[in-house]
Amino acid sequence: MIGKIVLGLLALFSLQAVAATGGGQDEDWTGTPQMEFMNSEIVTLYQCTSCHTIGERGGTVGPILNQVGTRRDKEWLRRWISDPQEVKPGTKMPKFDFTPEQLEATVDYLANMKTELHTDQILAKKVPMAEMGQALFEDYGCVACHRFGSEGRFVAPDLTWIGVRKTEDWEKTWLSAPEAFKPGTFMPNFHIPAKGVEALAAFLHTQKGQHNDASQQWEFRTNFFLGNTDKERGELVFRRFGCWSCHGESAVGKIRNPNMAPDETMPGLRKATNKYTQEQFSERLNQVFYPTALDESMPKPPFYCPDYGKYMDKSELGDLYAYLKSFAPKKSKWKFK
Ligand code: HEC
Ligand code: HEC
Ligand code: HEC
Repeated sequence: MIGKIVLGLLALFSLQAVAATGGGQDEDWTGTPQMEFMNSEIVTLYQCTSCHTIGERGGTVGPILNQVGTRRDKEWLRRWISDPQEVKPGTKMPKFDFTPEQLEATVDYLANMKTELHTDQILAKKVPMAEMGQALFEDYGCVACHRFGSEGRFVAPDLTWIGVRKTEDWEKTWLSAPEAFKPGTFMPNFHIPAKGVEALAAFLHTQKGQHNDASQQWEFRTNFFLGNTDKERGELVFRRFGCWSCHGESAVGKIRNPNMAPDETMPGLRKATNKYTQEQFSERLNQVFYPTALDESMPKPPFYCPDYGKYMDKSELGDLYAYLKSFAPKKSKWKFK
């Protein structure tokens, strides 16, 4: 037990070191607005860095905040800091008992935490679209929320396999205006110019797990305290491969798929193991499933179930099945007549 705790602490410390990745590990933050906030009374009193990385240090529960002023305006920040639950029900971010002065000071600090964007320079380069997209991905700091390879946070879907599950066309729709596709989404609108949207979509579409290897271990370490059973590994597989982006967090479903029969929502998977044996489940994941359209004269539903089988190994499929099984209603042993 003690051994486990000591190891866990070690894992946490090494996490702090990893925390810098994607948050600007190559940058010198001395004298920046980021450091000003880091050393302020607010952070000292309210321990924002237990969850957030600022500069190159801090926790991994929430988004990296170094570029928060680049993607959020003051009005949004004020709403968020005043009452996070109001903006995103269920969030782990607490509501703090700020005085009005502290609230305004925090909003000012955050709005100043920007980095210079290089959109025009990047778009002017004569390089393939996907390469341009990668540069934009880094410049906008998408890993502040998204997991990608061994970088980033778990606040948003893991993008390591995004090219397997979403079409390039949908990516463009999403990146142009996330809130138009999904009102109330936590993903900010970056107001990316059309060519940038195209480049980012081209980059994302090439992401089919080639950045996967090293990160896998990292993920297991972050989950040290959760243990390492097949069910728990299965939860990571569910996240990493992005099942949750269509089948919902914890497999509860309710995610919209426009024009999909019968009710435009994708199924939850909490009862899937009652419906499919492990073998049937693996077979199903080995082929693409296109949903039936509600109205044939309308555009096809944008989302389909990808053929993950060729990307997953047997143990991952087994872990995934064990994870879903943990939700399935137990078949009753008792028969009532
Ligand atoms: C217990 C963990 C926790 C603490 C402590 C915390 N936050 Fe957060 N914060 C989060 C999480 C998690 C999110 C992302 C929302 C979500 O996914 O639920 C977030 C989101 C944010 C965002 C929006 C970031 C973005 O990229 O849009 C800001 C700004 C923010 N927090 C500021 C603060 C400040 C300032 C403090 C300290 C006064 C603080 N947070 C303390 C967990 C925390
Ligand atoms: C402040 C956090 C945050 C930042 C920064 C952010 N996103 Fe997101 N993103 C989200 C959230 C949250 C979702 C899930 C949307 C939902 O379900 O509401 C999402 C969804 C996505 C999706 C769809 C994922 C899937 O599995 O279908 C893509 C693609 C995406 N974001 C790309 C990007 C790109 C590219 C950037 C940088 C330009 C970026 N995001 C920056 C929070 C963020
Ligand atoms: C891009 C969206 C998307 C992603 C990502 C996705 N699915 Fe699906 N999935 C669907 C859709 C849409 C359906 C319904 C298809 C149909 O009508 O048969 C479905 C159906 C299923 C079903 C059958 C459900 C039932 O009740 O019969 C299973 C099982 C399933 N998916 C497993 C998975 C797993 C496991 C993952 C992750 C490895 C995953 N899916 C990722 C879109 C997705």
